[in-house]
Amino acid sequence: MGMTVKDLSSEKLLVSPSVLAADFSRLDEEIKRVEQGGCDLIHLDVMDGHFVPNLTIGPPLIKSIRKSTNLVFDTHLMITDPMKYAEVFVKSGADHITFHVEGADAPIEQVIEHIKSLNVSVGLSLKPATPAEAVFPYLDQIDLVLVMTVEPGFGGQSFMADMMPKVKAIKDEIKRRNLKVHLEVDGGLDANTITAAAEAGANMIVAGTSVFRNPEGAEKAIKVLHDAESILY
Ligand code: DX5
Ligand code: ZN
Repeated sequence: MGMTVKDLSSEKLLVSPSVLAADFSRLDEEIKRVEQGGCDLIHLDVMDGHFVPNLTIGPPLIKSIRKSTNLVFDTHLMITDPMKYAEVFVKSGADHITFHVEGADAPIEQVIEHIKSLNVSVGLSLKPATPAEAVFPYLDQIDLVLVMTVEPGFGGQSFMADMMPKVKAIKDEIKRRNLKVHLEVDGGLDANTITAAAEAGANMIVAGTSVFRNPEGAEKAIKVLHDAESILY
């Protein structure tokens, strides 16, 4: 069994490059490039054409890139049936599964318990219109909260700074209850937007375009994000 997000400190600023922005014809090299650049996890965006209006990657691709790295596969399910499909993702090499709080094929508690029973860590994600309070009932059962800072479905969109009060509200609740829960932001993160995200309390930073397509290289891009650790709320 590999590591999960439980093996990573929620007080450190962690960078999770989204493979969606990589060159899919050279995925092995692309993953090694960001690992050598110092990233902490690998973010995998799974879309089913129902929960979001797009299709991306699935279990066979995850299985084939499992050979490229031992980094935690931070798997973000944007699908309507997380209960039905969680196991096949874990069998393909996912070490962590995040699913959305807006709707699943079973009650949220049951999906959380099912994912935990697969011996991986579990996260809950919120779309931009979903309030912070939607995850509060589950905070002591999960390892991570993912706040979307774009509408899920596509890479390369603009960061929604108006999500920062929601990030801070969740961070305050995590601190108030003295929990070790990672707080992840996803969408439009780069050298300009990282400051707001870290000041609001996000410790796990998903970055697709700004890491994989950075003209200055992945290492520089990841370092700029890591440097925001000093301002982490
Ligand atoms: C959007 C995905 C994100 C996205 C991030 O639905 O969840 O992970 O690919 O990509 P960038 O960093 O390009 O916004
Ligand atoms: Zn994502």
